Amino acid sequence: MIEQCRLIEFPQKGDDRGHLVVVEGRGDIPFDIKRVFYIYGSDKDVIRGRHANYHSEFVLINVAGTSMVKVDDGVNQKIYHLDRPHIGIYLPRLVWKDMYGFSGDSVLLCLASEHYDAEEYIRDYDMYLDVMRKKTTGEV
Ligand code: TYD
Repeated sequence: MIEQCRLIEFPQKGDDRGHLVVVEGRGDIPFDIKRVFYIYGSDKDVIRGRHANYHSEFVLINVAGTSMVKVDDGVNQKIYHLDRPHIGIYLPRLVWKDMYGFSGDSVLLCLASEHYDAEEYIRDYDMYLDVMRKKTTGEV
């Protein structure tokens, strides 16, 4: 499952006036964008996220500054460094994610496939492991 996480390079349409990066739903990313939020002003020792989603897929882009994203499917983990405004990470549903190591100028743009619903967030890691175990054994 973790192998579905991947970095995506977005088209850059910059010219001598500056940079322009395009992110189209169901084009550059594999879902229609229903929600946009962004995270900034987090200290470098803060860990955000710490959750998985039953339904939402995400693409995270550091449009300014840098941050780290650790993804975890309950078995394997992988760490990505977001450090360019035209690079995003695609996160499928049911991946546990931590965002951390924010630079002082970090603005982390998050594109989501679903509207916000607190009920579809799994915020307890033991519960997450249980959900993934049941998924693997076909209990759900
Ligand atoms: P949270 O999910 O904890 O942020 P992060 O994953 O970056 O650590 O969200 C922080 C607060 O904002 C929490 O009270 C839920 C609220 N929130 C919304 O109301 N709508 C949203 O789309 C998001 C992402 C969060």
